[in-house]
Amino acid sequence: MAGMTIAETVRAKFYERYGRHARVYRAPGRVNLIGEHTDYNQGFVMPAAIGLYCWLAIAARADRRLNVYSSNFCESVSVDLGDNRVTRRGDWSDYVVGTARALEQNGYALSGADVLVHGEVPIGSGLSSSAAIEVSTGYGLLDISGAKINLVQLALACRQAENEFVGARVGIMDQFISANGQSGHALMLDCRSLQAQPLPLPPDVRVVVCNTGVKHQLAGGEYNVRRGQCEEGVRLLSSALPGIQALRDVTPDHLEQYKHLLPDVIYRRCRHVVTENDRVQRAAEALLKGDLATLGVLMAGSHRSLRDAYEVSCSELDQMVEIADAQPGVIGSRMTGGGFGGCAISLVRGEVSEAFKSAVAEEYESHTHLHPDIYVLSATEGVHAVSVGNFPA
Ligand code: GLA
Repeated sequence: MAGMTIAETVRAKFYERYGRHARVYRAPGRVNLIGEHTDYNQGFVMPAAIGLYCWLAIAARADRRLNVYSSNFCESVSVDLGDNRVTRRGDWSDYVVGTARALEQNGYALSGADVLVHGEVPIGSGLSSSAAIEVSTGYGLLDISGAKINLVQLALACRQAENEFVGARVGIMDQFISANGQSGHALMLDCRSLQAQPLPLPPDVRVVVCNTGVKHQLAGGEYNVRRGQCEEGVRLLSSALPGIQALRDVTPDHLEQYKHLLPDVIYRRCRHVVTENDRVQRAAEALLKGDLATLGVLMAGSHRSLRDAYEVSCSELDQMVEIADAQPGVIGSRMTGGGFGGCAISLVRGEVSEAFKSAVAEEYESHTHLHPDIYVLSATEGVHAVSVGNFPA
């Protein structure tokens, strides 16, 4: 399908498969500039949506069947939307089926649909391919069902799908930004109130994503262990700080004062979260003032804390950050997303971004013998319908 746009290609592939025309939607992946592992502690995050998308071609059916084909995996699944016995399969389809289920549980009456998904967010790389598939599916299903779409409610339903159907106890950040991203902006999100403040990124600054090539897996495993450790910290600290509901309510000073109540590993997990919340708020102030030097220092502090106190980095991420930080024109670098592999991000002056890309790729490869994919990106808007050729969205 040479010469066609991605939107045209997914629509044509849909036609080939189902013999009818589809509407096309896309939802973006994301980076997080700062504020890692704070969302499920009701704290602050600063994500931006990026121009790597999950594309969805969809057409309503007269019945309640949901037929889904993944062009990445060349596999299809088919479920009945009214069948409550459907359970997770442990693959890509869980994000689609789980989102449909969560929307129905929240009172939306969905129409059956034929669906084709095509993801371009690299899987397991910390750029939220899962939120992109959930949000594009949820938006498309609601739109073809004639529902009024509230983007915050959509994000919450998608998180519910991931928590309850997929089994990863993730916070709200990824689904929120994939639904609500704004072009040219990061969002400073308060994960307790869900109030978001758009923060303009300087037009001459690029977000460079450096994929270590080490894949991570969030469902179960270490991610859920970290979340449990934070909850344990709150439980232990609440004997001295009654009324706290989450680590969001604990200041760095309080944590030091009541450190003796916590086993060392729990203390270090809590220290990361409370200091990270503080860094996000200072980073937002710095960005608003155009103080990029301070932003860079805070990003470096975030990475160190994730590496040493929260222990979710890995040697490849640490090397990538070290290599990136040594390049001319870099403002700041850190791992982004859940960790245990995946991507580092750097904020880089636009005029040096191509030189940055080739220098980092070469050095990383020579140190690790892994070939990194590197993307120079800008902040984009959240989920939306896409017009295709003569076919309006
Ligand atoms: C994953 C989760 C998010 C968030 C990050 C870490 O991306 O999906 O909810 O917890 O990890 O900040």
